[in-house]
Formats: sequence, structure tokens, C-alpha cells
Amino acid sequence: MKNQEFFDKIKPWSIRKHRLLGKYLPPFSGKVAKATHNREIYCIDGFAGAAKYEDGSEGSPLLIAKFSDECAKWRNPVTLKLINVEPDVKGEGIFPLLEKATQKWVEKSIVENINKEFFSALPEIIAKTGNSPALFFIDPFGPTYVHFSHLQPILTRNQRITELIINFDTDGLRRIVDASFSEKTNPKTAETNSQNITKIIGSANWKQKLNVESLSTEECEEILLEEYKQNIKRFDYHVVAYPIRESLDKKPKYHFVYCTRHSDGIGLMNDFIREEEDLLYGEHIEEKLTLFSSSNLAHDEINRRREKLHEIMNIYLEKHQRIIRNQVIKNLIEDYFGHFHSKDYKTIFKEFIDSGMLKTTDDKTKIDDRVYFFSLAS
Ligand SMILES: C[S@@+](CC[C@H](N)C(=O)[O-])C[C@H]1O[C@@H](n2cnc3c(N)ncnc32)[C@H](O)[C@@H]1O
Repeated sequence: MKNQEFFDKIKPWSIRKHRLLGKYLPPFSGKVAKATHNREIYCIDGFAGAAKYEDGSEGSPLLIAKFSDECAKWRNPVTLKLINVEPDVKGEGIFPLLEKATQKWVEKSIVENINKEFFSALPEIIAKTGNSPALFFIDPFGPTYVHFSHLQPILTRNQRITELIINFDTDGLRRIVDASFSEKTNPKTAETNSQNITKIIGSANWKQKLNVESLSTEECEEILLEEYKQNIKRFDYHVVAYPIRESLDKKPKYHFVYCTRHSDGIGLMNDFIREEEDLLYGEHIEEKLTLFSSSNLAHDEINRRREKLHEIMNIYLEKHQRIIRNQVIKNLIEDYFGHFHSKDYKTIFKEFIDSGMLKTTDDKTKIDDRVYFFSLAS
């Protein structure tokens, strides 16, 4: 597919990616602006694209630019500046479209469009963003455009409030692995492929782990993704990944990899992803079971997952005994990212209190983040 064709009609999975980005921007901006003296923050759309699809849908640069208008009107306004990078390598008119769609914000000095490749634009981006908090949205076509070393200037920025959302094409990467292990591939090409995979992931452990015949496609992809996440974690990040797919029963198109240094960010993204999964489930049952009431089924599904969470929390409490609600939720979210909504955690927590299995030393009824003791006795 030519780059330009991508912008003919928005794909369902791109809608999901945009929805997650759009949901995350308001809490991110409100929170990180507090850490500045001038409430100025940055978004960098590293692989910006045309900003508008032929069918009228908005691309990420427009979505972010429009949000900057919104947060400028908040009671505590935030100045969100956006830097878009788009090389339009084949001169397909993508950069002129981006310029046209964002002109209004360029005139206000809110948006700047850079007509370069992301990697070569990075030094000026790092200089421009100075010490402001920043969110980098890195959304290339396919797995090969971003080497791990390209991320280094971002991961080592002086400002610790530097977050990343990376569209990581795990499936595309696994295909290159398959080709590099295939006997049909000539050894020189196989070696080049292998070196490229290492450059993308940032380390070479995958080679040994994947050189096992019995691994399924999913297991291979899991290994690649895990190694990539681990490499980002070395820069003191929490890293979580969500498989973006067209529908519930389809293979992931890519992983939405979210990197933050703040555990609150993980909690927020956990809920957005749980909501996205609920939407997927809703679409799935509407399609498959039109004769039944989808809302009842959705209700059953929530009950089923809360039963599961009840069991998980029980095991956790037996191990810890003396706990703080917020901490339990944070720990479990890391282990079960995207499985349960914070509403699920709070509901189950309340069930434990109501049943007398969780107690405090005072008789306040409000459930909050003080110490609770677990006891099986009641
Ligand atoms: C998946 S599209 C971006 C879609 C956009 N982020 C959105 O959500 O609307 C990827 C874009 O990256 C551009 N691109 C290709 N190579 C690039 C590079 N080295 N640096 C930055 N952008 C590049 C392509 O021209 C294409 O427009």
C-alpha cells in the first residue's frame, strides 16, 4: 500500500488508536502542566501523516491540535504545543496536506510541522521542547522505521515527565524473524534481517529465545514484545502494551505500547483499555447474537470478570494481610493490565469490607486509602 492510500479511508483499528490517544490527552495535560512554571507542554507526533483522511476523518495531528484549543480554554489553561514530523519521502503530497490541515494552529505558533524523517528531526525537537513535559506519539508504518537507538534521546531527556506511545508492529517484526530463520532465505539477507531486528528491539536475546521450533506465532510475538518492553523499562519506565485489533476475534494489527514514569498514568491507561475491550466485546456480541439482548450479556460479562477479580484479590490479600487500597489496585493493575477497570477493583474492595474480611482500626465507613487488615475469620 502506498502511504497516500493509507489516508483514503480511516481503518477501524486506527479509530481505536485515536480514541485511546484522545482519551489520554486531557488527564495527561492537566496533570503534567502542574509540574511547570508556565503550563506549557508538548506533544510530538513523530510520524504525523496527512492529518486528514480523504473520507473526512481526522488524523492524529488534527486530533491533537483540536485538543490544544480545548485545553487552552480550561479554567486552568494549558498551552499544548504540537510538533509534527512528516518527511513525505515519496513526495505524495502528504506534507502539503498536513500543512493545510494545521495552518490555523501554525499561524498561532501552536503547531510546527517539520518536513524531515523523525530520526533526523529529533535533535531539534529535543532542543525545542527544552524542559517542558512531553508526550511522544510514534506511529510508523511497519516495524522498520524506528530503531531502539533512535529513542535514546527521548528516553534520556532531562525532563523526567517524558512519555511515549509507540505503535509497535509485533506481527511485522515476527514476519522478519520468520524470514531470517527460514532456510529459503539466503544467509546474507538472513543476517541483515537479524541485525535489523536487533536494532529495532535494542538487544539480541530474542535470537536465542526464538530459535526453538515448537513456538507458536503468538509465543514468538510475545517474546519480541517482552524484550522490547524490558529494554524501555531500563530507562526507569513503566511499560504496558495493548494489542490493537479490528475486532475481538482478529489478530492484533500492532501493539499500542505506552511508557510512563508515573504509576497514575498506568491506572488511567488501564481503564481506557478496559473500556476499549468492552467496546470490542459489545461490537462482537451485537454482530454474533443479534437475537439476544446485548446489554444483558455485557452485564453477565462484567459479573464474570468481577468473580475472577474476587479470587485474584483473595489470593493477594492472604499474602499481604495489611494493605492500602490504592497500593493493591496499583500492584494488581501491573499484573493484570487492561483486564479489570478501576470500578471493578473498587467494587470488589467494597465487597471485602462489607463481608467483614477487610477491617480498619477505626469505625469510619468511608472507604479510602488508609490501612486495612485482612482477616478470614469473619
Ligand atoms: C501510520 S502513518 C501516520 C498516521 C498518523 N499518526 C495518524 O494517526 O493519523 C505513518 C506516517 O509516517 C510517515 N513516515 C514514513 N517514514 C517516516 C520517517 N522516517 N519519519 C517520520 N515519518 C515517516 C509516512 O509518510 C506516513 O504518513
